[in-house]
Amino acid sequence: MRIAMVGSGYVGLVSGACLAQFGHDVTCIDKVADKVAQLRKGKIPIYEPGLDKLVGDNMRAGRLTFDTNLAEAVGNADAVFIAVGTPTRRGEGHADLTYVRSAAAEIAEALRGYTVVAIKSTVPVGTGREVSRIIREARPEAEFDVVANPEFLREGAAIEDFMKPDRVIIGVETKRAHDVMAAVYRPLNLIQTPMVFTNIETAEVTKYAGNAFLATKITFINEIADLCEKVGADVHDVARGIGLDGRIGRKFLHPGPGFGGSCFPKDTLALTYTAQQANAPQTIVEQVIVVNDARKKRMAQKVIEFCDGSVAGLTVGVLGLTFKPNTDDMRDAPSLDIVSALEAAGAQIVAFDPEGMKEAARLMPSVTFAESAYDAVSGADVLVVITEWPEFRGLDPRRLMQLMRRPRIVDLRNIFNPDELRSLGFAYEGVGRRRVLAPSVINKLLGNNSKISAQDPEILSSSSRVSGPA
Ligand SMILES: NC(=O)c1ccc[n+]([C@@H]2O[C@H](COP(=O)([O-])OP(=O)(O)OC[C@H]3O[C@@H](n4cnc5c(N)ncnc54)[C@H](O)[C@@H]3O)[C@@H](O)[C@H]2O)c1
Repeated sequence: MRIAMVGSGYVGLVSGACLAQFGHDVTCIDKVADKVAQLRKGKIPIYEPGLDKLVGDNMRAGRLTFDTNLAEAVGNADAVFIAVGTPTRRGEGHADLTYVRSAAAEIAEALRGYTVVAIKSTVPVGTGREVSRIIREARPEAEFDVVANPEFLREGAAIEDFMKPDRVIIGVETKRAHDVMAAVYRPLNLIQTPMVFTNIETAEVTKYAGNAFLATKITFINEIADLCEKVGADVHDVARGIGLDGRIGRKFLHPGPGFGGSCFPKDTLALTYTAQQANAPQTIVEQVIVVNDARKKRMAQKVIEFCDGSVAGLTVGVLGLTFKPNTDDMRDAPSLDIVSALEAAGAQIVAFDPEGMKEAARLMPSVTFAESAYDAVSGADVLVVITEWPEFRGLDPRRLMQLMRRPRIVDLRNIFNPDELRSLGFAYEGVGRRRVLAPSVINKLLGNNSKISAQDPEILSSSSRVSGPA
């Protein structure tokens, strides 16, 4: 099949390369000429594990090409995918459909013969009909069908997710378009991938419902982690304990500094906006957004409290800036809130991230960027782990101890073993890890006395050693 992919960012480039790997003849299109020029030379503008090889292999096989102009590729295509960005519209929560609309208008001009126009971007319900209208008005005689085919890949594991998805959702309303989409994804039949064929609106809502549910799951475990910190429980064991229940599942139960990234923040907002317009408010998701935003801001306060109430004049070594490991994506990363709040409180930040520093340098102009994780902690008064890159898990605590000015760690991803670090002499603070309760706390938990105050120094002994596995 001949496929045109309009938009060659994190989703379009991965999807285009994977569809070429399926054996299709794919042209990836992007407006940014520099990006296309790089891609033509085999240079990948983003960091995504395995993508350079996949792109290179398929370019050499003659199945994957790049262009800035969509006319020829769209004119020849059996299926055109729209994979442009849908950021939050300025000033409110609605998804900004400017790029989708303009892609639709350009596609309309280029259509030749029957073509399926499949929307891969995450778009609010109603967008499929709107794209159809735009094309129909521009080209009343054109033969086409619009299909909603939301993408569920995760950055950092994007190729695996595309090649071996849990499911493919296809909102389609004609037999002809159904058959084209079935042919696009035919290689997935071999691995018995569930294909959900449904109507366009259902496919559009499914994408938002999926992301909102995952964002809710993260936020839920984050609040449970807060509770664990106050009552002597360990959130990892709680997460395992509930996650082993097949109805709940173990994934997305890792506590941390709050969700960020290019999808969850904007998609939860867009869903609540749509729901308000539809007079079917999503109050759970609205609350998730409020709780998560507050959490990201509160994480800097957690560091400040850990440093006896002030970071003024301190050097804070930060490990990890991207919104998650194995990507260079900094969009809505929790590090943006945490670093700026620590700087505002008078700290000097020295940071290291394996792939995110180029973009971070643009967003965090006063941060000093280190050459390695050890460089970032050298001379630090406190180390803050914000993103759980695998290489940070292997850091040698003894070397950290030698390099740091003061051996203090705030581990917002729970990558270290608290017992090991404390036994070496570190002051350590994780998220939702177990601590020894003072008897007065137990009294308060069981009685009707006043609530436990976060500031009450007697309440919990955070530096106490607790036996057992981390
Ligand atoms: N990033 C993810 O992990 C992910 C996962 C699933 C779904 N999505 C959704 O996929 C969509 C794309 O996300 P992304 O992260 O790839 O965005 P992105 O910003 O990385 O890529 C979008 C690309 O589209 C290009 N573009 C915009 N208008 C164009 C036009 N008219 N013609 C050609 N190119 C054009 C831009 O130059 C850019 O390179 C969004 O709706 C997003 O919500 C993203």
